[in-house]
Amino acid sequence: MDKGPTVDEAREDSNRPLPRPTDDFAPLLESNDPVMQRLLETAKRAAGSDAPILLTGESGTGKDVLAHQIHRWSPRAESPFVTVDCTSHAEHLLESELFGHMRGAFTGAINDEPGGLEAAHGGYIFLDEISDLTAPLQTRLLHFIKEQSFERMGSERTITVDARIIAASNHDLVSEVAARRFREDLYYRLGVITLRVPALRQRPGDVLPLTIRMLAGATVRNHGPRLGLSPEASSALVRYRWPGNIRELRNVIERAAVLCPDDLVTPEYLPDLLCNDPSSATTPSASLDDIEREHIIRVMAESPTLEIAANKLGINVATLWRRRKRYGLAATPNVPRN
Ligand SMILES: Nc1ncnc2c1ncn2[C@@H]1O[C@H](COP(=O)(O)OP(=O)(O)O)[C@@H](O)[C@H]1O
Ligand SMILES: [Mg+2]
Repeated sequence: MDKGPTVDEAREDSNRPLPRPTDDFAPLLESNDPVMQRLLETAKRAAGSDAPILLTGESGTGKDVLAHQIHRWSPRAESPFVTVDCTSHAEHLLESELFGHMRGAFTGAINDEPGGLEAAHGGYIFLDEISDLTAPLQTRLLHFIKEQSFERMGSERTITVDARIIAASNHDLVSEVAARRFREDLYYRLGVITLRVPALRQRPGDVLPLTIRMLAGATVRNHGPRLGLSPEASSALVRYRWPGNIRELRNVIERAAVLCPDDLVTPEYLPDLLCNDPSSATTPSASLDDIEREHIIRVMAESPTLEIAANKLGINVATLWRRRKRYGLAATPNVPRN
């Protein structure tokens, strides 16, 4: 039977230099969307407790970003944050990634090695793509959650560890439970606090603030001019359905920042799909309210204060305040941090 790469091969793999991170801008942690605002509030409160957290939501919605942020908000911020991706390993390697192993526990285990749980002592263990965990590992994890203790592979010595769990899944775990692929008892243990991260198309008011943040990041990275967005480009971004969520938005903005020869991103630097997508959320004949809302969001996203935004919009602050409330927009303009 092919057991996949040995631990040492897998380690060598993880020693390869990582690609340069493209995320050297602070994530945007304010939202114009009431559902997302509530979710961020709950996440902040959850960060103060020790209950396990389950993050669900489509791929690219920001579950990794949120998990890291919960760690930063928590009293464990100075302690480790260890990620274990439950998709990426053969079962025995994943078991070892989680629980560690003793020399000789399986072919290729040439040293005693601690696993992620031991490394996360005092801090967090982030179990990404938890629905891919095999049945035996689900059982072992459940045991750990109940007892706070486990044994390394090939060892009988019980190790007690204080690690807080955040699990994430793109798949609907409820249907995995219904299909008997995921243990119901584990699901309830993991999901004491469940946070459903909305798809980007469900929070269209955040598309432009995120875009501005990403453009600012691109400016810093490329040592280029400050990049702006034309109104047509803004509309195309807001109307598009973003099946790949924030990850797709980031790729689109990176591409535009590279292709754009001057300081204004116009639709010609966006992928054709965005401008001709028949499934876009709103049609070109959007209502006046939609257009006004979109324009206010864009100007607020580009302005450091409400006064400056009101000035640009040619209205007074009190009027902007009322419009903002009417359209359900956040109180503070979104200022890029770099
Ligand atoms: N709040 C945010 N602000 C800025 N960028 C974000 C935010 N959330 C997600 N992203 C970006 O979107 C991409 C996908 O996020 P990630 O957390 O990996 O999603 P998921 O884990 O849900 O697939 C990443 O490049 C990340 O930087
Ligand atoms: Mg992820």
